[in-house]
Amino acid sequence: MQQENGFIDIHCHLLFGLDDGSGSIETSLAMARMALADGTELVLCTPHITPGIYDNTASRIDAALSAFRQDLDAASIGLAVAMGADVHMAPDLLPKLRAGEIPTLAGSRYFLFEPPHHVLPPRMEQLLASLLEAGYVPILTHPERLSWVEQHYDLIRRLSAMGIPMQLTAGSITGRFGPRIRQLSERMLDDGLVDIIASDGHNLTSRPPSLSAAHALVAARLGQAEADAMMRLRPSAIVANADLPARPGPSSDAPQKQGRQAGWAGWFRRGEKG
Ligand SMILES: [Fe+2]
Repeated sequence: MQQENGFIDIHCHLLFGLDDGSGSIETSLAMARMALADGTELVLCTPHITPGIYDNTASRIDAALSAFRQDLDAASIGLAVAMGADVHMAPDLLPKLRAGEIPTLAGSRYFLFEPPHHVLPPRMEQLLASLLEAGYVPILTHPERLSWVEQHYDLIRRLSAMGIPMQLTAGSITGRFGPRIRQLSERMLDDGLVDIIASDGHNLTSRPPSLSAAHALVAARLGQAEADAMMRLRPSAIVANADLPARPGPSSDAPQKQGRQAGWAGWFRRGEKG
């Protein structure tokens, strides 16, 4: 029997005071406890980087993360945390990634790429292709929540085929954002277009850092192995900067196995300190 690793949440606004996520240390610690109780062992802390709105940088996020690790230790909360950002689309992404101003996920080649919610930018496909060509892997965040996605579903297919991983939000599948987004999520799941599910947690109530309910729904729909691939194996490959385990494709049931068996808690709490 396969050992049960915890979930790895690659998208969560757990750090406080940097964006519209947690607003206080108390909320951040309570969110961390909630994630841990829900079965998550590692959270990538991904504040928004949105020029002119949330002007976060890698060094600012890193400082907040280091301080928060100490807060977690002081509160005896055994959740591992690592670095990331929720990077809004901007023309100068590549130079800023290269300069280290924009962080990738846990120092890997993967980073969260957030397209505009209400307008499909004309050159997004070219920008994504150029980022891939430069050796980065942009992960498209919550395509199911973009208002233009139904009209451009073919673009999502093309991007996926091109090698852009798709990250669905757990709350979309559980119906937190309404029936339309839930149905779109189910369509993407059934079409084999979902690589990763993350919480995109912002708080304790409307957008909690929870994955287990979505995991159960995906396991019922696509099988346990694929649910695990979306919330454990592919996220662990991202953190390890490895290739993503393949998707089974539409309505297939290919088994996904393995992953990092050692706990991430030890890896990040010991490896990244200091
Ligand atoms: Fe986000």
